[in-house]
Amino acid sequence: MSFWTRHQIFEKNSIVLIAGILVVVAIGGLVEITPLFYLKSTIEKVDGIRPYTPLELTGRNVYVREGCYLCHSQMIRPLRDEVERYGHFSLAAESMYDHPFQWGSKRTGPDLARVGAKYSDEWHVTHLVNPRAIVPQSVMPGYPFLAETEVDVAGMADHLRTNRLVGVPYSDDQIANAVADLKAQADPDNPGVEAFTKRYPKAVARNFDGKAGIPTEMDALVAYLQMLGTLVDFKLYNEKANLR
Ligand code: HEC
Repeated sequence: MSFWTRHQIFEKNSIVLIAGILVVVAIGGLVEITPLFYLKSTIEKVDGIRPYTPLELTGRNVYVREGCYLCHSQMIRPLRDEVERYGHFSLAAESMYDHPFQWGSKRTGPDLARVGAKYSDEWHVTHLVNPRAIVPQSVMPGYPFLAETEVDVAGMADHLRTNRLVGVPYSDDQIANAVADLKAQADPDNPGVEAFTKRYPKAVARNFDGKAGIPTEMDALVAYLQMLGTLVDFKLYNEKANLR
């Protein structure tokens, strides 16, 4: 049998073929899997990532509760059409404090990973109350009740504590002041705003729903939407990446 016809051994004997496949797949598996045991973390270190504020976390819960993820993804893939439409592709670090993550698998509406700061608060409130007021053809449902529903603050501290259990680095101070911070972020005139921004640097306190008074679920959801994808400064990130 010449060298060039030796592969017939595999083609004529299925057991040999299966053994051969197993060997090749095992090599491929080892090459992909072994490095993971030597890496401390597969999440890159990125400046700017911080845990969600209590108000944002509440907004995130509303997002999950209302099933926004059924129509919206939060993961920009590193493909040219996505990057040109939505901005820099998503980094693993950007969802490292998400429990559960909101990458999603369905896009009836656009990706929301970088929707933060794209529109005004007023735009979001108008759109969430009735999407067709802004996009006449929209199939997105309206959520007018969010503006009338006060945030239930009762379990806030426990919620932060639970997130800490699964690895989100909330400090004791942040947990003790969870409710105060939630109220401060939704009201720029609240005396607690200064302490709040100390605990969550670069977070903004605004009246997200445009109505004074007790924070509503609309405040929370808009606060969450407005910070999505804004934590990493990609000018700095790209400079650092080029230096490496
Ligand atoms: C039935 C599918 C569906 C659901 C559920 C849904 N959306 Fe949408 N969403 C859409 C579609 C379609 C659009 C594009 C048209 C528009 O702007 O209304 C959109 C647009 C948006 C936009 C504007 C994005 C941009 O970049 O222009 C935001 C923000 C948004 N949705 C937030 C939400 C939030 C928050 C929820 C949950 C409370 C939600 N959506 C639930 C379908 C949906």
